[in-house]
Amino acid sequence: MSDVRIAASILSSDFARLGEEVRAVIAAGADWIHFDVMDNHYVPNLTLGPMVCAALREHVVHPDGSPACLDVHLMVSPVDALVQSFIKAGANRITFHSDAATHVDRTLHLIRSEGALAGLALNPATPLSALDWVIDTVDLILVMSVNPGFGGQTFIPSTLPKLEAVRDIIARSGRDIRLQVDGGVKIANIAAIARAGADTFVSGSGIFDTPDYRGTIDAMRAQIAHRPGGTS
Ligand code: DX5
Ligand code: ZN
Repeated sequence: MSDVRIAASILSSDFARLGEEVRAVIAAGADWIHFDVMDNHYVPNLTLGPMVCAALREHVVHPDGSPACLDVHLMVSPVDALVQSFIKAGANRITFHSDAATHVDRTLHLIRSEGALAGLALNPATPLSALDWVIDTVDLILVMSVNPGFGGQTFIPSTLPKLEAVRDIIARSGRDIRLQVDGGVKIANIAAIARAGADTFVSGSGIFDTPDYRGTIDAMRAQIAHRPGGTS
């Protein structure tokens, strides 16, 4: 199992101070910046586009100035044209939803051919058969623990057995695939989520709605430090 990554979702940050917020949350210990893109078509909300991503890129850095991972979560349909725009805007990883792309295999290959890592997202009701025939082409599987569209929702408990099942699929593949969870991740439930097999934890309101980002991220890491194979 891979080392733990905490991805701070900027959806719950102060948008008027986005650059500052991104620098602050990385300095507080977040590994990745999770950039939620919503199009008011695939999901009923509208957020950020490639221009904001490009403007933010220079702020997605560790305190020593080295770049941190910009993890773009596309909740859009169609997908492909935006893949290219976001990679040009500095995305390191692009994840899209299995039911949002017309040709999932083509889109996975497109992301990789443009030089980014490819993720496939499954909604709470999406069956795991969506992973059939693409397991050799994904770098990350995102199991949504809320229905996509909004920050601050409650974690859906059936995500836990689903994560266990995806962890088995990853183990059987023999490939190095990250298992990401997104939605309602907090200090209080992150240990159970880690036990179910996740290694990459998106948290928005769980971090940004707290006054002390470092204290929150440290507490999350402490909760998951003892899971099998886990490191902080
Ligand atoms: C939901 C987004 C999530 C969300 C996470 O559609 O993909 O990234 O912002 O926010 P919290 O942690 O508040 O559920
Ligand atoms: Zn997200």
